[in-house]
Amino acid sequence: MAQLWGGRFTKETDQLVYNFNSSISFDRKFYKQDIEGSIAHVTMLAKQNILTETEKNTIVNGLESILSDVESGKLEITDEYEDVHSFVEANLINRIGDSGKKLHTGRSRNDQVALDMKLYTRDEVLEIDELVKELLKVILTIMEENTETFMPGFTHLQKAQPITLAHHMGAYFEMFKRDRSRLRDIYNRMNFCPLGSGALAGTTYPLDREYTAKLLEFEAATRNSMDSVSDRDYIIELLSALATVMMHLSRFSEEVIIWNTNEYRFVELDDAYSTGSSIMPQKKNPDIAELVRGKTGRVYGALMSILTTMKGIPLAYNKDMQEDKELTFDAIDTVKGCIALFTGMVRTMTFNKEIMEKSAKGGFTNATDVADYLVNKGIPFRDAHSISGRLVLLCIEKKGALDDLSIDEYKKENKLFEEDIYQAISLDTCVNKRMTLGAPSKTVMNQVIEEYKIYLFNN
Ligand code: ARG
Repeated sequence: MAQLWGGRFTKETDQLVYNFNSSISFDRKFYKQDIEGSIAHVTMLAKQNILTETEKNTIVNGLESILSDVESGKLEITDEYEDVHSFVEANLINRIGDSGKKLHTGRSRNDQVALDMKLYTRDEVLEIDELVKELLKVILTIMEENTETFMPGFTHLQKAQPITLAHHMGAYFEMFKRDRSRLRDIYNRMNFCPLGSGALAGTTYPLDREYTAKLLEFEAATRNSMDSVSDRDYIIELLSALATVMMHLSRFSEEVIIWNTNEYRFVELDDAYSTGSSIMPQKKNPDIAELVRGKTGRVYGALMSILTTMKGIPLAYNKDMQEDKELTFDAIDTVKGCIALFTGMVRTMTFNKEIMEKSAKGGFTNATDVADYLVNKGIPFRDAHSISGRLVLLCIEKKGALDDLSIDEYKKENKLFEEDIYQAISLDTCVNKRMTLGAPSKTVMNQVIEEYKIYLFNN
């Protein structure tokens, strides 16, 4: 047991208590941020003449040597320390002696851990953002290549109206683009430095908190020392944004799974991204998509957990808050893994364009266009809708499509139908005459694709 306190205790901590209390098994993850924060702290202490220049240099050198030794594997972070903060401080004192004991001047583990966690998650926000950006690039490539790939659009998982694959992919582009903007918001809101808040009430040393904040590339220092040590809003916001990323990935996964079924065969997964069955030789399973869908629950769980942990905590720091780490780390790692794998799966997946187009032609996806044809000839939409419905019924009886009815059959329902009905309800017209902003026509899609390219270039 190596701990930073003990002066007022007459007994050793019970081993089980020590184990229960200790956090090193998981907070070792931010050793780098802990050292980075300590270097900024002592740099500020020296600027304020709280430490001498020599003391600062000795401490910084010591901290840097610990960092490089941990990084090279020469120094191992072991369980004998209560937490990563104790590990770094004990090793520092070991290396440089008494000046190491001055590192913690004007600091508490409460503001220290608040800083470490913020630095760690801040870095992760940027990494996750990059991964989402990679996925967006893959989606955009599919869009560019498929503005003429017809497929059915669905509502209630029933064929509704024809669209293109580019249009369908564009919906996911929008979702993941919003995810990135959420991450950006969170980054901006969290980017204030808690260091210098002490245990809860600041300190009597003349710290320059804005200077420390600047050294660590924060926007500014936080404005309330009690809130600084007990704010975990940014973790909740981050987990909420990550839960939303997972929800999007999961919806997309669900579609890939459906499209990959023997019944649909819209997509073919690459062999490298699918798995076989130990008993059924013919199987090629979409395990990656299923796992992404499955892991979504795990990230939701992390969000619920931290919300619940925080709801009953009085100001300021309480040990409950140590529970913010494991689940957040797990959620971050899960999301990063899922985005990376999912991106690879989508990048290598191929589309059976003929099957998609054939599917778009079935299911009377042009029934609305039959009605619209009559509306253009002056029939009120409600009446046109029911005429088209009756024609669909006729097709169902005859086991054919609306395109297969003869002009006489059309005219029997309404004399306003002319030969041009066939052109009006062709797949090409149904898609490419839909020119409203956001609609699937090639013209509109190309404009949107241009906007997306500019967006990816600038963001
Ligand atoms: N391991 C602790 C945590 O994660 C560090 C802060 C400890 N502070 C304290 N007053 N015991 O929250």
